[in-house]
Amino acid sequence: MEICRLENVSKIYHSGEDVCPVDNVSLTISQGDFIGIEGPSGTGKSTLLYLMGGGLLKPTHGDIIFGGRDMSKLSDRELTSWRAKNIGFMFQETSLFPALTALENIELALYLNKRSRLTQAEREEAMTLLTELGLKERAHYLPHQLSIGQRRRVVVCRSIINHPSLILADEPTNDLDSFWAEKVIHILESFAQNNGAVVMVNHTSWAERAQQRYRLNEGKLISI
Ligand SMILES: Nc1ncnc2c1ncn2[C@@H]1O[C@H](COP(=O)(O)OP(=O)(O)OP(=O)(O)O)[C@@H](O)[C@H]1O
Ligand SMILES: [Mg+2]
Repeated sequence: MEICRLENVSKIYHSGEDVCPVDNVSLTISQGDFIGIEGPSGTGKSTLLYLMGGGLLKPTHGDIIFGGRDMSKLSDRELTSWRAKNIGFMFQETSLFPALTALENIELALYLNKRSRLTQAEREEAMTLLTELGLKERAHYLPHQLSIGQRRRVVVCRSIINHPSLILADEPTNDLDSFWAEKVIHILESFAQNNGAVVMVNHTSWAERAQQRYRLNEGKLISI
C-alpha cells in the first residue's frame, strides 16, 4: 500500500544564487519499502528528506501526497499534528531539547502526538526503547551529559515511539560504532518489514542494507 508519493517535486533555495538541490523528482514510497539515498555532501539529500517530512520544507514545484492527502492543502497547524503522528524523523543533527532528559525528550514526542497525559504503559514503552538502545542508565541524563553516539540513539528512540507510518533517517549511523549502527539498521529493517516504510540517507557501507538504492545527482534521483 502506498504511503507517500512525490510527484515532480522541485526545491529551489533563493538565498544568494539560486540552488536547486531537488529537481523534478518523482518517487512512490510503499509499506515495506526500505529506500536508501546516497550522494556527495551538499547535493540535497537532507533537503529531499525534509520535503518528505510533512511540511517541514515545502516544495517550490510539485506535489507531495501522503496517505492520499495532498500536503499543500493542510494548514501549518494540521501539518504539525499530522507529522507528529505519521513521521519519525531521525535528524542528521541530533536535535534534542537541552533542558529535558533523554526520557523526557521521548515523552515529549509522545505528548505532542496525543496531547494528553501519558499512561504508565507509554512511559514504560519509552523506557523499554531506551533500554534496547543501551541507555537504561542514562535515561535521566540531560543531552549535554550524553556522548554524541548516545544522543543519536535517543533520537532513534524518539523517532519510533509514536509508531509512525514513515521513518526518515538522515545519516542514522553517524557517531555510532558498528555494534550500535547494526542495531539501528536492524530496527529500521524490522520497522519496514512490519508494514512501515523507511527512507534512509547514508553515505557509508550501511547504505547497502537498503533494498532500493538511489543516488541524488544534480537534483535528479537515479536508481542504482
Ligand atoms: N535553507 C537553505 N537555504 C539556502 N540553501 C540551502 C538551505 N538548505 C540547504 N541549502 C543548500 O542546498 C544544498 C543541499 O543541501 P543539503 O543539506 O540538502 O545537502 P546534503 O546532501 O544533505 O549534504 P550533507 O551530505 O553534507 O548532509 C546545499 O548546497 C546547501 O547549501
Ligand atoms: Mg544532509
